[in-house]
Amino acid sequence: MYHYFAATEIYNAIRVFIAAYVWMTGFGNFSYYYIRKDFSLARFTQMMWRLNFFVAFCCIVLNNDYMLYYICPMHTLFTLMVYGALGIFNKYNEKPSVMAVKFLACFLVVIFIWEIPGVFEIFWSPLAFLLGYTDPAKPDLPRLHEWQFRSGLDRYIWIIGMIYAYYHPNVEKWMEKLEECEPKRKFSIKASVISVSLFVGYLWYEYIYKLDKVTYNKFHPYTSWIPITCVLWISFL
Ligand SMILES: *[C@@H]1O[C@H](CO)[C@@H](O)[C@H](O)[C@H]1NC(C)=O
Repeated sequence: MYHYFAATEIYNAIRVFIAAYVWMTGFGNFSYYYIRKDFSLARFTQMMWRLNFFVAFCCIVLNNDYMLYYICPMHTLFTLMVYGALGIFNKYNEKPSVMAVKFLACFLVVIFIWEIPGVFEIFWSPLAFLLGYTDPAKPDLPRLHEWQFRSGLDRYIWIIGMIYAYYHPNVEKWMEKLEECEPKRKFSIKASVISVSLFVGYLWYEYIYKLDKVTYNKFHPYTSWIPITCVLWISFL
């Protein structure tokens, strides 16, 4: 609907909604693999099929590029990353120190591929036939530019989703304890968490959200966790 109506006035909000969706990719898939430990090829293939069969159909029938449906390759990529992060050495997932190293490794992989100039192009060049796209309005841009832009916007938020999923049981326990507190104490704790969230959310809105599209996009990968975290805390309490 956003594209159809060219609703540029809500561009930044749409960016946050998509980030929230990628956050859920990290959260949901992490929880699944962490608890169920089902890394089987059958389930993996099912998942890849579910994420891509319709887009493959559309691309073939309409003779369109895969990148025009960028949400699909993007979720496929981040699902693969979560699968890899948990699947590699999955025997040791119970160890907090191993999980800490895994989270760190995720950040390092993203920093290596997306933040170091030139690495992205080299890394993805073997898949350029699939992920390349030339915008008729901007024919001079490199073929992988669209993929770099789309995948780059939410490159960190899936890791945040995984970390939140990892700590989710702790927060739940903390919430239960909070519910058992005497009413006055409970109220003051809730009120302070909500006030801090609202205040931080307001600062983000004022100084980041209100920026113009191009500047906002520069900050988005590093700041999208702020509104997501604020909304989470408020809805949690
Ligand atoms: C994993 O992420 C994909 C992409 O967002 C989603 O379709 C799928 O439902 C997620 N799996 C789980 C178990 O949450």
